[in-house]
Parts: sequence; structure tokens; C-alpha cells
Amino acid sequence: MFIPGASNSARHVDATFAVILAIEVFLLFAVTAAMIFFVIRYRKKKNPRSENIEGGMLLEIAWTAIPTVLVLIMFYIGLKSFILIRKVPEGAMPVQVTARQWSWQFTYANGKQSRTLTVPLGKPVRLVLRSQDVLHCLYIPAFRIKEDCVPGMETYLWFTAKEKGSYDIFCTEYCGLGHSDMLSKVVVMPEKEFDAWYAGEGEKGGLGLTVLESRGCLGCHSMDGSKKIGPTFKGLYGSQVTVLTNGKERTVTSDEEYLRRSILEPGADIVKGYQNIMPALPVTKEELDAIIQYLKTLK
Ligand code: CUA
Repeated sequence: MFIPGASNSARHVDATFAVILAIEVFLLFAVTAAMIFFVIRYRKKKNPRSENIEGGMLLEIAWTAIPTVLVLIMFYIGLKSFILIRKVPEGAMPVQVTARQWSWQFTYANGKQSRTLTVPLGKPVRLVLRSQDVLHCLYIPAFRIKEDCVPGMETYLWFTAKEKGSYDIFCTEYCGLGHSDMLSKVVVMPEKEFDAWYAGEGEKGGLGLTVLESRGCLGCHSMDGSKKIGPTFKGLYGSQVTVLTNGKERTVTSDEEYLRRSILEPGADIVKGYQNIMPALPVTKEELDAIIQYLKTLK
């Protein structure tokens, strides 16, 4: 499916792709035509005895020069768009990107954090990419940009969004069970709207939701009742949960104590039907209380 370009580099990347594709299609037809011609022209019936042909200077020059020129054309336009993609303009707005199993976290210069990437229209943005665990890869098809997030290393990307709207963000490096859940959006809004968003409060839901989002909890736990890598948060509080405790099955009521234990010691009670893969993330007492207060509201 063709996705219309929505960034400054999209035009150049598409042009590079089109030129290379055109050369390839031309070569495919040229080689196929020559092959068919030779098969017919030099078939055994008409040429029972093969002849020894002693070189041909003109031919040799042609089949050296033409491919060389074609390859240099591809190199030139490829290099030009590569430089454009790698050279970040001065004053680009920095956004820190943290990739982890299995979510994206975007942190802005003023400390604001979000699970979706919100950017102003027509302004260059520089993404600084880091990974907390394994290889991930940030890909924004509509912007025609893509870069790996490598543990222990900092990589970057930049773009200027050219169209208002919301575009997909994918992880394109297989990173484990929840790889396909590493979906997010980049939201492009006019500068004024962006400034208001940037200066405004964190997303609604207060500290509890902010912690759930920023720690990546929502990559594995849904809030709408759907089953992901982990159980949904919707209606969790107060419900009856069948868990395995030290391999023994039992049913518990999901109260404050249960939620607290499940966050601090994820391996203590494993909800039946799920795997023991949740990491114990450090949270302060205040954050823990806020999470539980928030979970209570998800009826
Ligand atoms: Cu992260 Cu795939």
C-alpha cells in the first residue's frame, strides 16, 4: 500500500526509490529481450557448429560504461537524500525516545512525557533514540524515516512534518513476544496548538496514568478489556482472579494488597493463562498509591 509522504524527506526518498525502480525495470526488460533474441537467433537447428568469436571492443566498452553510469546515478541521488536525512538542522526540537519491551516513551525538553509523539507542523524535530533492553527500530512510514534503537548506544533521526494529521509509528525489529504491540502515533499539529499542548498538564488520569504510561505498562496491559501480553486493567479492581502461587492454583480477590504485590513482585502470583515475564519496575510509594487509585477507576 502506498502511504502519502508527510515529511520534508519523503519526496527525496520516494524520488530515489522511483529512479532505482525505473532502472531495474529497464534492465529487466533489456536482459529478457536480449535473452529471447539470442535463443531464437542462435538456436541449434540453424547453427549446428559453434563459432569462436574473438572479442568486440565496442561491445566491451558499452557494457562497462553503461552500467557504470547507471550505478553512479543511483549512488548520486542515494547519497543526496542520505545526507538530507542524516544532517540535522540547527535548532531542531529535541525529543528523547526510550524503547523498551514493549512500548515507546517520548520525553520532551520540559520533562513532559507521552506515549504518542506530538510535534509541531513545519518545525524540525530531532529524536534521540535509546533502548532499555534489546534492539528495537523506530519506523514512521509516512515520514520515510527509520532508525534502530540499540542498547548502550544513542542513535538519532530528524524530520520536519509537512502535513497535519496522525501517522503510525512501528517497531520494525523483532523484539520478543510483544513486538507487534509496539505501535504508536505521531500527531502533527499547528504550532499554536502544539505550544498549548506542550505547556499543558500531562495526559488526563493524573500521576497514576502517567506512571503506567511512562513505565510502559500499557504496552502489555490494555485499559479497554482486550487481552494483550498481560491481563487487562479494565474491571481488574475488585474482581476474582485465578492465579498460580508457587505453582499452586488459587482464586484471590483483586484488592489493594493483591495489586500492590503484583506490581512489586510480579512473579509472586501469576494470573492463569499468562506467562511470568513482567519485570519488577522500581516505583516510589507515592507512585504505587497513585497507580492503585487509578486502577480503581477503571471499572
Ligand atoms: Cu520493539 Cu519490536
